[in-house]
Amino acid sequence: MLLESLRRYPDVEADNLFAWDASDRLILARWSSERRAGVGAGAPAPSGPVSEGSELVVINDNYGALTLGAAAAMGAGRPAGAAADSIRVYQDDLLGELALGHNARAAGFTGYDSHPLDETLLAGARTVLMQLPRSLDELDDIARAIAAWAAPDVTVYAGGRIKHMTVAMNDVFLRYFDRVDVSLARQKSRVLTVTGGVGRVTPPVPREREHDGLRVAAFGGVFAGTSIDAGTRLLLTVLRRARPDARDAIDLGCGTGVLAASLALARPGLRVTATDQSRAAVASAARTAGLNGVADRVEVVRDDGLASRPDASADLIVLNPPFHIGAAVHTGLAQRMFADAARVLRPGGQLWTVFNSHLGYRRELARVVGPTDLVTHDSTFTVTASTKQNEKDSNGQHAGRSRHR
Ligand SMILES: C[S@@+](CC[C@H](N)C(=O)[O-])C[C@H]1O[C@@H](n2cnc3c(N)ncnc32)[C@H](O)[C@@H]1O
Repeated sequence: MLLESLRRYPDVEADNLFAWDASDRLILARWSSERRAGVGAGAPAPSGPVSEGSELVVINDNYGALTLGAAAAMGAGRPAGAAADSIRVYQDDLLGELALGHNARAAGFTGYDSHPLDETLLAGARTVLMQLPRSLDELDDIARAIAAWAAPDVTVYAGGRIKHMTVAMNDVFLRYFDRVDVSLARQKSRVLTVTGGVGRVTPPVPREREHDGLRVAAFGGVFAGTSIDAGTRLLLTVLRRARPDARDAIDLGCGTGVLAASLALARPGLRVTATDQSRAAVASAARTAGLNGVADRVEVVRDDGLASRPDASADLIVLNPPFHIGAAVHTGLAQRMFADAARVLRPGGQLWTVFNSHLGYRRELARVVGPTDLVTHDSTFTVTASTKQNEKDSNGQHAGRSRHR
């Protein structure tokens, strides 16, 4: 019943996009049955439910199903401010974090805290409930962090949809733990129960690689890892032509910060903001800026689109928009980013966008931002430049997204 009431808001909502799935239910069921049977770390701690909450960590909860489901299982209708027994939660996506907040408020639940993937999240944890990430690099960072900081007797319940799971995931856990038990399949989902931390593991560090003088750092499952996406490469070939007189620029959805660092390196007078909703992305972009000696001119911000940016405050925005939401191909996020760009550009400012040509965004960009020119294309990607017009010139037809949402 609780799961059915969850929403994805403020993430994109649509008929083919869901706030929870059968793997959430299976993770909770597996943990609950071991807890009821008093098996291992799945069992309530001897000092009762208060410390049980503080020993429970939830990782990559999509929209709150695991956190709120676990809280319900522990009978945790805790009063506001009960920090000592809070469930600790890590979510890479800011949108997931905001959705958990909305769903928790709707359920009247306050007993959790959000953390980065660090010691504050994991110190003393005896149970981890998690959704398996798609990326093995992200799973490696998570498994390593658990092994480095959680209690030695920690049990990890890691679940997912079978179509997104591979045996390589077991191997990643076995780098840091002795044992992985695989559940039977239920509703196209499975849970891995992971135990036996091998100890003496150092925390995750970013991977690094150099491309033609540009050094790229990547934490976890950040987009493209330490490589440079083919679309991003095409945009880089024309970037010098993008508003050469710009005073400030934003790398919207920055990932590892390749575009932000390139702009800062090429234009010493430019102030650059790199922004992404992913924790791994902002950590990577900050590191990339540091590796390239431009950290003093690249401000890195974790944000949903440009929600925290004032109207009419940027001369140039560069964007390689996401076209996946989880497993689904969906243009909703890109459209929201176009609307954000339209609001944040100054009149005369430009949005330079690279996209897979079959997505045909040019018309949408012209409608939302302003006149949109084709800059270049190759066999797969298109780069466009959209110019924000004065209100009176645009005839009121360009509809930006409101900042207050
Ligand atoms: C296609 S990747 C591009 C990354 C990077 N700019 C590059 O060229 O390698 C799109 C990025 O948008 C980010 N993203 C997705 N939804 C977002 C949102 N609502 N707000 C900000 N960033 C978002 C993703 O985390 C991802 O890093």
